Amino acid sequence: MTAAESDWLDLRRPVDDAARRESLHLFDHAVARLSAETESNTKSLLAVDIGAGTGNSALWFDTALRTRLPDWEINWILLDSDQASLDLAATALPHARTICAPIAAFPTLSAELLSASEFHGSQLLLTCSALLDVLTETDLIAVIRSLKDHDGLGLFLLSIVDGWELDPVHPYDAVIDAAFTAHQHRDGRLGHHAPERLMRLARRHGLTAVEGPSPWRLAAPADRTFLSRFLSERLDAALDEDPALATAARDWWSQRQAQLDSGLSVRVDHLDVLIDAADRARGREPPTVRATTPPTGTEVS
Ligand SMILES: C[S@@+](CC[C@H](N)C(=O)[O-])C[C@H]1O[C@@H](n2cnc3c(N)ncnc32)[C@H](O)[C@@H]1O
Repeated sequence: MTAAESDWLDLRRPVDDAARRESLHLFDHAVARLSAETESNTKSLLAVDIGAGTGNSALWFDTALRTRLPDWEINWILLDSDQASLDLAATALPHARTICAPIAAFPTLSAELLSASEFHGSQLLLTCSALLDVLTETDLIAVIRSLKDHDGLGLFLLSIVDGWELDPVHPYDAVIDAAFTAHQHRDGRLGHHAPERLMRLARRHGLTAVEGPSPWRLAAPADRTFLSRFLSERLDAALDEDPALATAARDWWSQRQAQLDSGLSVRVDHLDVLIDAADRARGREPPTVRATTPPTGTEVS
């Protein structure tokens, strides 16, 4: 598995924060459910950001949680397989504990954590952002198992789904996107199928799952720096997948570079997912959420 570069994560942060604001309706459902459980639990939360990277997503989740649950004790665990990223995260969130481990280890870790006396009676909230596409089926099973074992909530934000929309269009947009999408599926990764796959697994285990869109909406020249890096990284991945695209890629890139000055709009779709294992435990109906755009990803059976 590959760690994300910290300068790229920092460049993403304002763009991700803007997209995550579109996820607040799911966040509010999660908070309402946590509050509803306080009859049987203390106002104490064990929040675990999986694939935490350098801590940017946990910072957003932490602020949103503390605003909504001001009288709760909120304990953060930041989990990632990359220690260098976690070292930066520990500086960004000094009150959080970091654990360097693969997500596949989470069922064991969550059982250990929640049986520790300091977290006794805490509810479990699993969070993540910009992670699901790099995970495998085994990872998703570990996530669902942890939620089920502890009647937990999981909030999975900014998962890439199929497709992008660029204006003006270029004749090579589709082939570059197809090669990028294939690259996302290398080494057993679920790529843009991951959020749909996660929801299916959750429902198969009797957990409720609801979804919502949270696209990036970008426009050059205002978002020039971000778009330049984003487009070049997509192109590199596409070329890695299909080197025969080299000539097309050169033409595409020179036109896109010129448009970073003259004007270019880009929409990148994401799908957010909220999974609730306590609904299953309490026999409750899943929350009703506002109408959402259907995911564009092909379903995996
Ligand atoms: C794109 S970064 C997102 C970081 C952070 N959530 C954010 O939004 O800034 C994905 C992170 O997931 C971590 N990661 C990927 N696969 C993982 C796995 N199987 N187990 C643990 N961490 C993983 C990577 O090391 C990386 O830090």
